[in-house]
Amino acid sequence: MKLSLLSGSAHPALARTISQQLGVAPTSDGLQRFPDGEVHVEIGESVRGHDVYLVQPLGPPVNDTLIELLLLADACRRAGAARITAIAPYVGYMRQDRRVSGRESVSARLIADLLGAATIQRLVAVDLHAQALEGFFPFPVEHLSAVPLLAEAVRPELPKNTVVVSPDLGGVRLAERYASMLGLPLAILHKTRLSPYQVSVGGIVGEVRGRMPLIVDDMISTGATVEAAYKALSLADCSAGVAVVATHGLLSGAAADRLQALGKPTLVLSDSLAVPADPTLPMRRIGLGALLADAIARLHEDKSLAELLVHA
Ligand code: R5P
Repeated sequence: MKLSLLSGSAHPALARTISQQLGVAPTSDGLQRFPDGEVHVEIGESVRGHDVYLVQPLGPPVNDTLIELLLLADACRRAGAARITAIAPYVGYMRQDRRVSGRESVSARLIADLLGAATIQRLVAVDLHAQALEGFFPFPVEHLSAVPLLAEAVRPELPKNTVVVSPDLGGVRLAERYASMLGLPLAILHKTRLSPYQVSVGGIVGEVRGRMPLIVDDMISTGATVEAAYKALSLADCSAGVAVVATHGLLSGAAADRLQALGKPTLVLSDSLAVPADPTLPMRRIGLGALLADAIARLHEDKSLAELLVHA
C-alpha cells in the first residue's frame, strides 16, 4: 500500500519536516476558502488504495482547523483511500471532558465522534489533556508523548535544587513522569479555575522552600495557570527563577505578557502548534517532526509503537 501525506493549513512547517524525514512528497490538497468562509478541499493526486496520513494539529483557530481535517478525511474517503490516519499532535476541545455544573456540552466526546464520522480510522496525538480521553474516540489512538524530549531539553538548565511542580491535580501524572525522568522531587498545587482567564491556587503539597520550581503542564493557553502557580510558589519561599515546560504552547491572548512578568523564565515548548515566535518572549521550541515521522513509518509498516507511547 502506498503512503500519502497531506497537510491542512494548521502547521505546514511541521508537515514539511515530517515529509522530509519520511522522504515522501506531500500530496496537494487544494484547500480553498470561499468568500463566506466555507472550506473546499480537492485532493490533487490519486489516493485510491493508499495509506493516508493527514497532518493537522487542532489548535487555534480551532473551529477552522477541525473543519479542514474533517473535509480532508471526507475527500480522501470519497477518493478511495484505504486507510486514513489523523496526525494531530494537539487536539483542541479535549479539556471539556465532563459536565462540571450541568447543562454543558462535553466537547471532547463530540469532537471524537465527529472525527469518527469523517471516517478517520486512527489518531496520532501527543500528550492529550488526560490519558482517559483515548477511550472517547471510536477508533484506536496512538498516544505519544513529548515528555522525554522536553525533559532532556531542559535538563542541562536545571540547578540541583529544582522541584518539579504540577500546577493542578489533573497534571500530577504528567509531572510524575518529568520528576521520574529527571530524578527530582515533586510538588503539587491545588488550583481552582475561576474563569477561562483566571485561576487561583490554594494549597501546596510537597517541599518547595528554597528550591527552584520547574512548572510542567500539558499546555499553556492564557498563561493564567503558570502565573498563579509562580505567585503561590514565591509566597512559599521558592528560590528565585523559574523554568516552565509544556507540550502545547497555545499562548492565547495575554499569555506572552503573563509569562514575561515572571522575570525571564526558562521556557521550553514543543512545536506541536504553529505559534509565531514572539521576540519579547525567549523560548525554546523542541521539534516533534522526527517523533511523528517515526510513528507514521511504524504504522505504515504495521510495526509496534510501544516504545513511543504514553504509559502512565
Ligand atoms: C488544565 O487543566 C490544563 O492542564 C492547563 O493547566 C490549562 O489549560 C492551561 O491554561 P491557561 O494557560 O489558560 O491557564
